[in-house]
Amino acid sequence: MKPLTFSVLRILSDADFHSGEAMAQRLGVSRGSIWNALRALDEGGLELHKVRGRGYRLPDPPQWLDREAILATLGTKATLFDLAVLDTVESTNRTLMQRAALDAPHASCIVADLQTQGRGRRGRIWHGALGGSLTFSLLWRFQQGAGFLSGLSLAVGVALMRALKAHGVQDAALKWPNDVLHNHRKLAGVLIELQGDMHGPTAAVIGVGLNVKLPPGVRDHIDQAAVDLFSIGGASLLGRNQLLAHILAHLADVLQQFELEGFSSLREEWVGRHAYHGKNVRMMLPSGTYEEGCVSGVAEDGSLLLATPDGARRFATGEVSLRRVPSTALDGTTA
Ligand code: BTN
Repeated sequence: MKPLTFSVLRILSDADFHSGEAMAQRLGVSRGSIWNALRALDEGGLELHKVRGRGYRLPDPPQWLDREAILATLGTKATLFDLAVLDTVESTNRTLMQRAALDAPHASCIVADLQTQGRGRRGRIWHGALGGSLTFSLLWRFQQGAGFLSGLSLAVGVALMRALKAHGVQDAALKWPNDVLHNHRKLAGVLIELQGDMHGPTAAVIGVGLNVKLPPGVRDHIDQAAVDLFSIGGASLLGRNQLLAHILAHLADVLQQFELEGFSSLREEWVGRHAYHGKNVRMMLPSGTYEEGCVSGVAEDGSLLLATPDGARRFATGEVSLRRVPSTALDGTTA
């Protein structure tokens, strides 16, 4: 999406009608360019009203990202971050990984209104919507090596839980290693990418994607049960600038604690928010095989602990899903 499209969007964000001619004059471009910019809005899935003689309007304008508003909500913590707010980017993780290799400062953060090639875990695509998702990446430089960071993605989950609670979302839960669920549907995901030596230092790019208000067209592309903040709590939860500030503030606290003490001091809080704790699950392993058991906790390095028929097992990688245990009838047959 071109910069001009974002300029047009910002004019239309007062929810009033604006004629193509007036917008062209205001932005110093031709009417044809405005028309092209409006056509590009289709890509983003935003609803646009067009009324002959009155012009165009956005009936439901999103709250655009606003650097000043984010910093104001962060208050004294604003100085901790080096924040860049972009209209559009292929992937905030990819851009921040490139900047990290070029010595971007500790706590650099990139957030974008539109991410066109969002990366998910396990090579998946992360689908977002223009103004309808919160997609950002944070660079955190650790003195330690990759071994120490194995519990980092779980620690990030703790920060997300705290921030969502502060934002008014009461009953979110975690799914190992770091999905955020609401009523068993995915609300947010985390992708961490690392640069550095085995023994440190390490640059960690922590990417977070959170569904705020997904149009049906985007939701249809998601290959698992998904939920957004709008479905959970309506318009009161849609403030992306405040939400990002809450998440960054909690991330700063949790990451500082993690640097000093590792995951162990956050473990109890994490387990307390794990949607699958005490549940029977199936763990799909990278080899294509699976193990089944009951979730008994997580280890200090963030591995998932299962009680299986063959004894206690721990897993550092894999994809966990709830197992439907067939109900056993009194006569011993299964339903
Ligand atoms: C997952 O698969 O659950 C992880 C999704 C992570 C998506 C976020 S969106 C911001 C950041 N940039 C990316 O390209 N991916 C992460």
